[in-house]
Amino acid sequence: MSIRHALKLKDHQVTDEAIYRGRRDLLGLMVAMPALALSGCSQAQPPAAPGAVITPEQARSGLRTSEELTKLEDVTSYNNFYEFGTGKTDPGQAPRTLRTSPWTVEVSGECEKPGRVNLEDILKAAPAEERIYRLRCVEGWSMVIPWTGIPLAAVLRPFAPTSRAKYVAFTTLADPQQMPQIRYRSINWPYREGLRMDEAMHPLAFLATGLYGKPLPQQNGAPLRLVVPWKYGFKSIKSIVQIQFVEKMPETAWHDLQPNEYGFFSNVNPQVDHPRWSQKTERRIAGNASKLFAERIPTRMFNGYADQVASMYAGMDLRRWF
Ligand code: MTE
Repeated sequence: MSIRHALKLKDHQVTDEAIYRGRRDLLGLMVAMPALALSGCSQAQPPAAPGAVITPEQARSGLRTSEELTKLEDVTSYNNFYEFGTGKTDPGQAPRTLRTSPWTVEVSGECEKPGRVNLEDILKAAPAEERIYRLRCVEGWSMVIPWTGIPLAAVLRPFAPTSRAKYVAFTTLADPQQMPQIRYRSINWPYREGLRMDEAMHPLAFLATGLYGKPLPQQNGAPLRLVVPWKYGFKSIKSIVQIQFVEKMPETAWHDLQPNEYGFFSNVNPQVDHPRWSQKTERRIAGNASKLFAERIPTRMFNGYADQVASMYAGMDLRRWF
């Protein structure tokens, strides 16, 4: 069974590159006529299906953005997936060795209903959605990507985390047969990531199974990857096989490698530079922009999702907890 089928997403519900232009025109119309968009006229319309025009409410909630999308070709050819090579084009060019079906995820730790679950069953937890998120890599480039998948909270809840579950730890598959480059120790495999419990349960935290309405390509983390849009891209761990509810802050792959450069939280923050480069701006790879010489735009606090997530960090020293 294809993931698309498992998710019950219909063609008209997802963002297709070809029809996106038309949709932007419509959006432009809404922006040009704010009074109409915000008046009773918009409420009289049926609720927008995923993939339809982005409503002011969706934009406010951060679930979708009307910013120009990154081309499918760029999303799938400029990647970080060290299990398939450390060069940006390596993962896209790697042989298709990852076996994504059947795919099981083991859920364990501080929860009442641990278990090993098939991907199809995991995805029954909630209806499929499309999210259009900005992805800001710690290296200083960014993209705008239409993901399909389901909220992370909906996936986690059925396992009934206990009150001792303070964090969620995620692990990527590490099989040298399927991921040939893990024979090099560029990272202490397996790739690991983690979120604090409130972050994991936040409505913007998402588990993606597709992009541009198609199943996730191998290079983007097939068949199941995390997307946490207010954090640097390395938090968005790919090809997840294990989820653990834990009491203590879990070790993560990049922190393990360079603790002074990559913190656990890794919230996008233009005021806290990486020790070796500034985080004030980013290269936005979108539309027809070239990948290397794309226009630099200012980086926004929490990647532009401050309204939705800043309250989770109230009172925290974000320089210390970078
Ligand atoms: N997950 C695993 N397992 N291995 C990786 O090397 N790279 C991370 C993240 N997830 C990575 C990973 C980094 S650094 C980024 S920026 C994003 O994936 C890139 O996602 P993309 O290639 O889909 O744009």
